[in-house]
Amino acid sequence: MRPPVFRPSGLRIKSPDILVAESGADLEGNGLKRSMGLFQLICFGIGAIVGTGIFVGLSDTVAEAGPAVIVSFVLAAVTCVFTAFSFAELGGAIPVSGSAYSYAYATLGERIAFLVGWCLLLEYGISVSAVAVGWGQYLNELLGSLTGWQLPAALSQPPGDGGIVNIPAVVVMVLAALLLVRGIRESARATAAMAVLKLAILVLFCVIGFSAFQAGNLSPFAPESVAGITSGASLAFFSYIGFDAITTAGEEVRDPRRNIPIAIMVSLGVVTVLYCLVAVSAIGALSADQVAGRPAALSLIVNHVTHSTLGGGVIAFGAVVAIASVVLAVMYGQTRILMSMSRDGLVPRIFERVSPRTSTPVANTWIVAVVFAVPAAVVPLDAVMNLSTIGTLAVMAVVNLSVMVLRRTRPDLPRRFRVPLFPVSPVLGVGFCLYLMYGTGPATWLQFAGFLVAGALLYTCYGRRRSRLGAASQDPAPQDPALQDPASQDPAAGADEAGAATVSAGAGAAAREG
Ligand code: ALA
Repeated sequence: MRPPVFRPSGLRIKSPDILVAESGADLEGNGLKRSMGLFQLICFGIGAIVGTGIFVGLSDTVAEAGPAVIVSFVLAAVTCVFTAFSFAELGGAIPVSGSAYSYAYATLGERIAFLVGWCLLLEYGISVSAVAVGWGQYLNELLGSLTGWQLPAALSQPPGDGGIVNIPAVVVMVLAALLLVRGIRESARATAAMAVLKLAILVLFCVIGFSAFQAGNLSPFAPESVAGITSGASLAFFSYIGFDAITTAGEEVRDPRRNIPIAIMVSLGVVTVLYCLVAVSAIGALSADQVAGRPAALSLIVNHVTHSTLGGGVIAFGAVVAIASVVLAVMYGQTRILMSMSRDGLVPRIFERVSPRTSTPVANTWIVAVVFAVPAAVVPLDAVMNLSTIGTLAVMAVVNLSVMVLRRTRPDLPRRFRVPLFPVSPVLGVGFCLYLMYGTGPATWLQFAGFLVAGALLYTCYGRRRSRLGAASQDPAPQDPALQDPASQDPAAGADEAGAATVSAGAGAAAREG
């Protein structure tokens, strides 16, 4: 006998069964291949996480928090851990490519799901632009240390930073797109190699930093008190963004119900320990005043400790590799989220087409690469970082809400991983997300509000009208329980559900063929 099911009404809610059925249909035809194992998935997570935040952003965090940067990193990590529990449960229960967008669709309805997808453009699309800009800076740093020659500012900096166009940032995005359209197997292999290398570089940094550790550098510990720690935590959070990208690979992972939760917890755990060690060793080796706000701070510290520029060059090489793999993984995530939204009719159908030759969404990938290469070419790195952070935190707050709603609405779904200390953990997750959002400051809140209003308008003018869920029910606010909650339906309604899933999956296949 099925457990009692709570059924919210008046919302366009898409059943998890239909979400999974649609993605399953893809797997049998020309759709995405399940080619990623657990190790590849963990590397993919690390590839998405470790990049600009630690290599470029650490010195900005130190500028806010002083030696208490360590507390800021721990606060950001705690926020991520609570949210990672929720992602792990949802990623195992609804293993599809849409990540937070799909979870919101299955729990809080289409409007919130659209806004979540909209905010994911900040977490993925805009951050990939910012990260590519960081990559360009480090590439120039590396060129300088290897050859003594650097690209002129006009071709390596955006307007506002003394340049005209950031060519390296555009180049890394085009390279990432080329790898992604070739197929996830190749992309995952490249990502795995880069993940291992960048972990090694950060471990090397810690060894060098701790060899020159001076406890006196930790005093005064928190010169800007709690306010500095809070805004530092919001900045540090950027370095953790990306662990949830693992869930965007839900349709390309073998045994996703087992592997997705494990990969999220392992990659976040490894990165958290490493970040805290990097922060402690950095401040221990060079005082906070000397690190604060300095570009390429990790190279600076290594040069200071080793009295040579060779070590700094090695770190710069690691940064170039690390940041390139973030570009790859985050761009991948953006394409999969757009694919899910397109499958639902909320964005144009070109985003769901999968090439029969490569089994990848080729047009989608190139659109993402070209559109987000524009800000990468002309926007300074820090101009969009806070916006990306607040958007990501908003998404994560929704994910914590979604896990609570899904426990209530679909207690029958198989869950290999369950959030511990439920519901305390997701409630704390929401609280910590709001706390870090507060730390981004009023200017960012204003920009974010404008962004949300634009998203709400777009949903009303486009998404709501083109929604396949809405069309299937032929009702702008469907009450058809088959589309809302098939697990609890009688046989007749179950037939409706199967029909809806088939129609939608068939539409997806047609779109791929088209
Ligand atoms: N966490 C990613 C980075 O630091 C976005 O580059």
